[in-house]
Amino acid sequence: MTTLYGIGVGPGEAELLTVKAARLLERVPVVAYPAPLRGDGMARTIAGPFIPAGKIEIAIRMGFTADRAGADEAYDQGAAAIAGHLEAGRDVAVLCEGDPLLFGSFIYLLQRLSGRFAIEVVPGVASPLAAAAAAQLPLAAWDEAVALIPATKSEADLERLLEVADRAVVMKAGPHLDKLRRVLGRLGRNATLVERVGFSDQRMLPLAEAGAAGYFSLVLVHGKGKL
Ligand SMILES: C[S@@+](CC[C@H](N)C(=O)[O-])C[C@H]1O[C@@H](n2cnc3c(N)ncnc32)[C@H](O)[C@@H]1O
Repeated sequence: MTTLYGIGVGPGEAELLTVKAARLLERVPVVAYPAPLRGDGMARTIAGPFIPAGKIEIAIRMGFTADRAGADEAYDQGAAAIAGHLEAGRDVAVLCEGDPLLFGSFIYLLQRLSGRFAIEVVPGVASPLAAAAAAQLPLAAWDEAVALIPATKSEADLERLLEVADRAVVMKAGPHLDKLRRVLGRLGRNATLVERVGFSDQRMLPLAEAGAAGYFSLVLVHGKGKL
């Protein structure tokens, strides 16, 4: 049966792409991915070594500052192009940085295409997992609760969520470091910033010393014990 695959390609290091993802990329005739207005984008770059020449490629392009309406339009067009190939009997793989269902762009295609086509989601190594591994910090131990929080939340919401979580990963952190430092300072919690994990320019340091960081950054909020 013609199938749409949502493929997690991991956070950056090519070796963290799964064997299943690599096998499917070898086989499918069509590869789609989110991309900026120019260039390939993160997911296509990570999966590049596993995409043989000659595939049909669909870049779903949107500007970094695209608003909801702009993003909706790009996903509508991408979903229509993907549907055209599926209707013509061609399997399509949609590349997604990290895992497709963790703040992943594949979610917006799933919303548009689910129920119409056979779909399989191939999980990928999500950036919180890769960052925890790089920092050698547990994500959760024993009966701890770990929260996954976008730093775009208000300062009050961040504080409320971080107050109850034993550990947390704060994603989309780059533009929000000052707000996070204020909240974590009030709560007396230690944290590590991890930027571009898996890339040659990976940066990892205590949040208090981090200065500024780019979009591909997250913050690991430590537990209350030794680690
Ligand atoms: C739209 S979300 C995509 C998350 C992705 N689906 C995943 O599973 O990791 C983008 C956010 O993920 C985090 N992120 C993704 N890749 C990263 C990397 N290589 N290093 C650090 N953070 C990363 C950052 O917080 C970034 O702002």
